[in-house]
This record gives sequence, C-alpha cells and structure tokens, in this order.
Amino acid sequence: MPIRTTKLMEMKQVGERIACVTAYDFPTARLAAAAGLPLILVGDSLGNVVLGYDSTLPVTMDDMVHHTRAVVRGAPDALVVADMPFMSYQVNADEAMRNAGRLMQEGGASAVKLEGGQHIAETVTRLTDAGIPVMGHLGLTPQSVNQLGGYRVQGRTLPEAQRMLDDAEALERGGVFSIVLEAVPAPLAAVVTKRLRVPTIGIGAGVECDGQIQVLHDILGLGTRQPKHGKRYLDLNAMIGEALQRYAAQVREGTFPAEEHATGIDDAVLLELLGAVESER
Ligand code: KIV
Repeated sequence: MPIRTTKLMEMKQVGERIACVTAYDFPTARLAAAAGLPLILVGDSLGNVVLGYDSTLPVTMDDMVHHTRAVVRGAPDALVVADMPFMSYQVNADEAMRNAGRLMQEGGASAVKLEGGQHIAETVTRLTDAGIPVMGHLGLTPQSVNQLGGYRVQGRTLPEAQRMLDDAEALERGGVFSIVLEAVPAPLAAVVTKRLRVPTIGIGAGVECDGQIQVLHDILGLGTRQPKHGKRYLDLNAMIGEALQRYAAQVREGTFPAEEHATGIDDAVLLELLGAVESER
C-alpha cells in the first residue's frame, strides 16, 4: 500500500523516528524502498551529486520531472517527494501551482518540497488548498546560498532562531505535512520539533528531530562531498574505482570475457559459415 503523508504524522505521534533519504534514479529508489525507507526525496541536490553543478540553482523543472519519474518507477509505494527547483515557485503562486502540478502529473510525485518560511506561506496555502501535499524546508536553504553567503549553519542568534520558529509555525498554518530543518543548531531544532504538530526531518539538525534525511551519495561515499553532518556507511568511490580497475585490467589481459560470458553456435552452423567465408575468398 502506498505510504501517505498522514503516516508521517502518525509516526510522530507514537514517537517512531522517520528515516528518509534522497534518490534520483530507478535503481537507488528501488534499494531505498526495499530497505523500508518510507519517504524518498528527489532533492534538487540532484544538481550537485548527479548533474555535476556546484549548486542547485541550475536544476530545471524538466530535470526534476525526468528524475522523479525514474524514482517513482523504482519505489511505487514510497512517499516520493519532489523538490521544486529554483524559480519554479518564487515568481508567483500561479506558477507554483502549475509546476507542482507537473511534478505530480508528469513526474508521479506524491508531494512537493519548497524552501522558505513566512514569505512563501501564502503559496504553500494555495498548494495545500488544491490538494497538493507540501513539505517545508527551513534553516540552510541551498537555493538561497548566494544570499546566505555560503553553506552555513542558520539560527544561531536570537532573532534568527525566533524567525525560524515563526517561519515553522507559518508553514504549519499553511498546511505542510512536514518540515526539513537543514543545518540548524540541535537545541533550536528540538524547540521547533516540540512546538510543531507536523514532523521535522533534520539534516545536520541533531537527533531530536522527528526524522532524519541524508543525501544518498553522501552516506554511500559516492562523489566528492563529505558534509560534516553526514556519516559514510559505505565507501562506494573506493569500491567502484577498484571494480572498474579490475574490469579494465581483465579486458586488457584478455581474461574477460571468459567462456561462461560468451554464447556459442552449433558446430554445423559454424562449419557451414566458415565454408561460405572460405569460398568467398
Ligand atoms: O535537495 C536535497 O537533497 C534536500 C535535502 C538536503 C533535504 O533538500
């Protein structure tokens, strides 16, 4: 049975921690779903970890629709949330509606995620009133990296912390089903988490959040990033590198493909073929 947004609320109510991860393609979505992760985010971190950009800003709606489709095919029963990319919701609520609609209709997403607080609360309300489940995202919001002056922890001063609380409450009033807290001091994330009915999902925000999310490539050790908040559960860079070297060496030395990797044909067919080739000479 597909997982619904209400399931996350139930998990918060009974104190069951929510483990989430990002995915961008069919095979990793399949693995995440098979591991029992209830929520898979097609994050616009796609830009950094898959498309090779140095920020999320160049990611387009077409990119997001394309990758969301693949993830949904791999994890048809997970709650697949698609990030709304930079400039797909900031201009006005009508554009936000159209683009969120695309992610759901064309991409097959179950929900969308937007970055920002009180200034996008009206847009969030428009979306949720239209039946589009929305996830919020506060703290370090990578689409605003140029305004934030880098990828820095947010909410360290009293005014910033107070604003984050107000932002979280505005998003909750707008109808979000959950809020990502990224790079937020753990004690502040704990206060926000206690204040809200909807679950908080932390990334670099301490253990008191209702759930955690990580970028898949960071926890699998694939790529060049090693964020402070991430833990490497695997070193895929090393594993894949070593496998590719062995493959290349075997091709060079002629030990791959071996007999078991090749297909033969009937001796009679082969003889006839060789005979025909011979007579053509
Ligand atoms: O794009 C993304 O991967 C995200 C997570 C870091 C929450 O927004």
